[in-house]
Amino acid sequence: MSAKIVPSVLPADFTRLGEECAGLQAAGADRIHWDVMDGRFVPNLTFGADVIAAARRVVELPFEAHLMCDRPEELLPRYTEAGCELVIVHPETLRQPHHAYQAIRDSGARPGVALSPATPLSQARWALDLVDLLLVMTVNPGFGGQSYISGMEAKVAAARALIDHSGRDIELEVDGGVGPDTIAGAAAAGADVFVSGSALWRYPSFGEGVADLRRRAERAGRA
Ligand code: DX5
Ligand code: ZN
Repeated sequence: MSAKIVPSVLPADFTRLGEECAGLQAAGADRIHWDVMDGRFVPNLTFGADVIAAARRVVELPFEAHLMCDRPEELLPRYTEAGCELVIVHPETLRQPHHAYQAIRDSGARPGVALSPATPLSQARWALDLVDLLLVMTVNPGFGGQSYISGMEAKVAAARALIDHSGRDIELEVDGGVGPDTIAGAAAAGADVFVSGSALWRYPSFGEGVADLRRRAERAGRA
């Protein structure tokens, strides 16, 4: 199994955001994960499409936007225009999730569905014919640096079974507290895409971190 390592830039030095993104690209990261928070769905406020668009000008890596925002429907096209190839939304924030996934696709991006820890997998069940990524949150959304919720590995395994049964090529991503001590459990449960923020920034270099996390995930992942 080939593991994708997708850094969250939440821990980045925002006075040097472009350089940090270029460093992640040089380190061999697969995508960059932008955690967009509105202070309503989650008790934190980060950045919006304009910041992502600015970073788009200085790096070639694919971008994914993780929208932790109330009622994001009106703004969905802004993230595609900002240069995100994936736009990931929480069904809890949407009036009509099925319509929102289609709207993301119609805007030119690929839709992803993110499930908070207490949100049942059934909320993604009828989205599998519309989305290209299922994100199982392994922390409660809102902040980086939280502890990994290992109980979510059962949800990851159930999501893996659901995806395999669907016959569709859907990425299974985990996000939150993913680092050298936790990535193997998530990979063994069936995840193949791994968001890492604070743990990656703790390595001596991005290159060492991306390589070590990918090696640990591939060693533990499905054969
Ligand atoms: C949390 C975000 C995550 C988080 C990951 O709401 O969705 O992407 O920033 O950061 P770490 O790896 O530090 O948990
Ligand atoms: Zn995230």
